[in-house]
Amino acid sequence: MKDSIGLGLMGLGTVGGGVLEVLTQKAEELARRVDCPLVLKKILVRDLGKQRPPATPTRILTSDFRELLNDPDIDILMEVIGGETDAFDFMRQGLLGGKHIVTANKEVIAKHGAELMRLAARQGLDIRHEASVGGGIPLINPFKEDLAANRISAILAIINGTTNYIVTRMAEDNMDFAAALGEAQRLGYAEPDPANDVEGIDAAYKLAILATLAFRTEIRPENIYHEGISRLSARDFRYARELGYAIKLLAIAKEENDAIEVRVHPAFIPENLLLAKVGGVFNAIQVEGDLTGPVIFYGRGAGALPTASAVIADVVHIAQNVRLGLRPKPQVLFSSSKNIMPIEQIQTRYYMRMTIDDHPGVLAQISRILGDHSISIASVIQKGADECSQSAEIMIMTHPALESAVRQALQETRALPVVREVSNLIRVEG
Ligand SMILES: NC(=O)c1ccc[n+]([C@@H]2O[C@H](COP(=O)([O-])OP(=O)(O)OC[C@H]3O[C@@H](n4cnc5c(N)ncnc54)[C@H](OP(=O)(O)O)[C@@H]3O)[C@@H](O)[C@H]2O)c1
Repeated sequence: MKDSIGLGLMGLGTVGGGVLEVLTQKAEELARRVDCPLVLKKILVRDLGKQRPPATPTRILTSDFRELLNDPDIDILMEVIGGETDAFDFMRQGLLGGKHIVTANKEVIAKHGAELMRLAARQGLDIRHEASVGGGIPLINPFKEDLAANRISAILAIINGTTNYIVTRMAEDNMDFAAALGEAQRLGYAEPDPANDVEGIDAAYKLAILATLAFRTEIRPENIYHEGISRLSARDFRYARELGYAIKLLAIAKEENDAIEVRVHPAFIPENLLLAKVGGVFNAIQVEGDLTGPVIFYGRGAGALPTASAVIADVVHIAQNVRLGLRPKPQVLFSSSKNIMPIEQIQTRYYMRMTIDDHPGVLAQISRILGDHSISIASVIQKGADECSQSAEIMIMTHPALESAVRQALQETRALPVVREVSNLIRVEG
């Protein structure tokens, strides 16, 4: 039996700092859980000259990955550097060099998870990634183990705290997108380059990971339709509220008759749904199992300590096995045999907002186009007409319709001389 477990920490930023803090402050408690001490041997950073918090053990800092790879006392590598290329390369080399891996990296797991897991299995090693989705919310293990007896039919999730903060501010304070984004950046909730978050790319990585586990088939991020929140306006939020809805950036995965829908986009959801009440940087993931019915996971999807909680949980799991000399359970790998439905084939309800000439007969022209494409109108609301410009704003809610039909109908509607602008099209879920 080993009398200590050696750790290598790759990255000392937000998450790495949290991991270091937990390893230091909870050393005794963690040693009791594993039945031997967890010893941090080396920390990899990019810039050795950078100012670090005073408690940083600077003597174990290095900018050379080989020092971790070639250290025979390191059993587990924790990867919290982020990005794709270096992180993937370090994890691959780590596995080839006999190290178990714990990672918080959604991008690498979404894009290369299957390859890394196959390699780990060949090497008799473990790779765990609880922190890659939902920060401190336990999700990966529940999907892999606790929900294993279920056939999961749907996931509806708010899995990006940055965008949820922005849409919450837009809804509650009538802010426009740019102002809410600026505030999120000032508070450190959004990156200086926010594209990955606001365009729904980060949520698509996370959805790829969850949907792969839920539907037991490999779902790649490039097969997930994603649309961001930058087209939303304060008006959409006001009208949604008047209609009894909230607007959220939703990650949606559904399986019906062996066809899978996976998409990330802003959506109207009824305001009485629990998901509609998830505000600020919080995340919530609703899963529909055939045995459980709906199950909801809720909590902090990011931040140093919540994310460190998930990283350390994985470390403890692996360390207990290493201590006892147990081989990891084989990873369940999935083939890509199920069909992923193109976005054009989905059927859902829609909200459309447009500005039209304020004349009799205009609505009839629009309804005719929608009718020609088998789109049935559930309600139409006209907001105050502008006498100066002789225009009016209308909102149309549809019954379920085929996405390709809606797109075609909107193209024809835009071409009508009486339609000044089609301002937004938002799908309605739940
Ligand atoms: N932040 C969160 O709340 C959160 C939540 C869940 C998951 N995650 C995931 O956790 C990972 C880390 O995120 P973070 O927010 O902690 O990132 P971060 O604050 O930017 O920190 C990155 C750290 O990695 C080091 N690093 C970057 N590239 C490197 C390279 N090529 N070689 C060596 N060191 C390198 C940096 O070194 P220097 O210090 O020298 O610059 C820095 O210490 C990402 O995959 C992210 O998606 C983050």
